[in-house]
Amino acid sequence: MFGARMTAIGTYVPEKRLTNFDLEQIVETSNDWIIQRTGIEERRIAGPNEFTSDLCVFAVEDLMKRYNKKVDDVDMIIVATSTPDFPFPSVSSIIQNRLNIPGTGAIDVSAACAGFVYALHTANSYIASGLHKKVLVLGAETLSKITDYTDRSTCVLFGDGAGAVLIERDERSNRFIGFHMGSDGSGAQHVYRTGLAKKVNDIELVDTQYLVQNGREVFRWVVRNVPNNIRHILDKADMSLDEVDWFIPHSANLRLIEPICEKLNYPMEKTLYSLINYGNTSAATIPLALDLGIRDGKVKNGDKVLMYGFGSGLVHAGQLLEM
Ligand code: ACO
Repeated sequence: MFGARMTAIGTYVPEKRLTNFDLEQIVETSNDWIIQRTGIEERRIAGPNEFTSDLCVFAVEDLMKRYNKKVDDVDMIIVATSTPDFPFPSVSSIIQNRLNIPGTGAIDVSAACAGFVYALHTANSYIASGLHKKVLVLGAETLSKITDYTDRSTCVLFGDGAGAVLIERDERSNRFIGFHMGSDGSGAQHVYRTGLAKKVNDIELVDTQYLVQNGREVFRWVVRNVPNNIRHILDKADMSLDEVDWFIPHSANLRLIEPICEKLNYPMEKTLYSLINYGNTSAATIPLALDLGIRDGKVKNGDKVLMYGFGSGLVHAGQLLEM
């Protein structure tokens, strides 16, 4: 079994900002309501000709520039997204061509807001097995393209962004300390966008091109389940929460992160999130938050970071990682 470690990170968010005050002009809402119920202040919105693959390429360019890294020896690309440019071809094959790395494996992972963590787990598995040495992992979304800007219960939440990380074989140690992967398909009707099927779990879905969410149900499910799953990760790794330097939950809503931390008795000050300026960017929230922590000088080499993603599925995944 081979060790793996994260060796570089890059991010990108589109230039256009959509503030709470802008949203006050679009739907019946207020800056106060949004801040009080979610903590979100603004989000970034991709241009009409800007798609998930474009955000991915910019995030990889940021990674290469900041870490002086090349990607021509990457042997697998994994993109986690719920908003691919097309149902097929995959975003990973589009960016493989744009990055000019022919011969590299390329797959997309569909695990909604848990996608980035699932993709990390997949990258680690490829490397641990000895089959791959250098995997490029991305979490990227253009959720604004599937957001209904007449529905105030969802349009205040979502935004666009991308994060890219390199996972490389490490001959000396394994930085992937513990994980938990799960899914509860009995809650599939709580967050969705209809596709070929219009029914799930025998429940008729709202047939629209937009994302539909029963936020309250997701909220309840997360508070009931995520803290216990996090405890399992730590128990299996024989570690305590005190040893976790940074907790990075999916940035769905600040009011959701607070009860998770409360149940775990984990300090909010050691929690990183990207929602204040970017909103809920689904598969991109965790790499965006990690990068904010690195840029702010908080997250350092050797720190233990616990990431936990959850979302439509209801799919969820946690990864304990040493930086
Ligand atoms: N502005 C003003 N009022 C609003 C707004 C708004 N933007 N949105 C809803 N309201 C109103 C509702 O109409 C309702 O009014 P009523 O009582 O008169 O009927 C009231 O506020 C309360 O609505 P709720 O939906 O019950 O509000 P809640 O406090 O549950 O907050 C929210 C909603 C923010 C969506 C919350 O439930 C949440 O964050 N849930 C978790 C979502 C999540 O984690 N998703 C992750 C997966 S996402 C993915 O996979 C892509």
